[in-house]
Amino acid sequence: FSLKNYNTFGIDSIARYFVEIVSIEELRDILSNKEYTRKILLGGGSNMLLTDSIDALFIHVNIKGKHIISESNDTVQIQIMAGENWHDMVMWTIENGFGGLENMSLIPGNTGTAPIQNIGAYGVELKDCFVSCNAIRIEDQKLITLTKEDCEFGYRDSYFKNEGKDKYVITSVTFSLIKENHTINAKYGSIEEQLKNDCVTNPTIKDISNAVIAIRQSKLPDPKVLGNSGSFFKNPIVSKEIFDTFIAKNPQAPYYKISELEYKIPAGWLIEQCGFKGKRFGDAGVHKNQALVLVNYNNATGKDILDLAKKIIEEVKHQFQITISPEVNLIK
Ligand code: EPU
Repeated sequence: FSLKNYNTFGIDSIARYFVEIVSIEELRDILSNKEYTRKILLGGGSNMLLTDSIDALFIHVNIKGKHIISESNDTVQIQIMAGENWHDMVMWTIENGFGGLENMSLIPGNTGTAPIQNIGAYGVELKDCFVSCNAIRIEDQKLITLTKEDCEFGYRDSYFKNEGKDKYVITSVTFSLIKENHTINAKYGSIEEQLKNDCVTNPTIKDISNAVIAIRQSKLPDPKVLGNSGSFFKNPIVSKEIFDTFIAKNPQAPYYKISELEYKIPAGWLIEQCGFKGKRFGDAGVHKNQALVLVNYNNATGKDILDLAKKIIEEVKHQFQITISPEVNLIK
């Protein structure tokens, strides 16, 4: 079974077995089935690199549903089933006048996989609106609820990437949103600029969403046109000591101070300085507008992309003594 249409990188990897499930009962059945020794969960396929043909059962979680579960004067809680497309869901919240997710418009992928890496963009992360999620625990197929605390969210990180790895299948996510139509999250530099260009002074959530969509479309390749997985690497977080040495040598570098002890450096900048931006190696390449994004021009294999990623990691390490690491999940 070819997974080409099930991963946004468009890698033509072959899965030994494939099944699509549309309900929690179907999910339980397949998880308890002992015939398949290796099972891999697949949501929107927007944050994975398939590096080979894979001897496993791919379970495409496609459970649908969007519900308002409770409301007060100024807030609303919504429960979104795992198979709902993230961006379509964000558009639905905006149409309903629910604020909170608008800065994360146009992020590819499905809602059920969004908590795993605590997706984020333009100053907001999933965790900011997250209440809880329901998940099937793989070992006993029990449906459990994980609170925000249980999920241990960090920068592109959560419990599901650490101790909870491969132990749960998220079936739904509950968010708390505000009914106020004007948002406070318009501070991110490029959003302010975009709103100014659009002559918007008192932005509504729809204005913010439109601004984010315009910025993303100008910088990030559309996976339907050019295969990619968004940012391939995480922005490295370094100690003050390493940062001081780095900034003394590279005073023009952009950075973000996290605390007195830690600084985040944009990997896109490091990669661009190494000369990779817009470069193509066969069918694997580095996007011309955003060096953090690796692209598949057509027929790149997972290995081609991985080889390019390794080359980039080595060169960044060589030039800056900083190790960058992939954000996407590598599936072997
Ligand atoms: N930069 C460069 N060259 C590049 C790219 C970036 O010099 O090729 C510089 C920019 O000039 C800017 C800084 O790096 O000074 C930061 O750039 P930007 O605001 O575009 O954001 P980013 O750090 O490159 C992160 C997220 C994106 C998210 C944007 C906006 C990560 C790994 N990536 O990128 O998320 O959309 O911020 O919030 O944190 C994703 O995760 O897939 C993703 C696209």
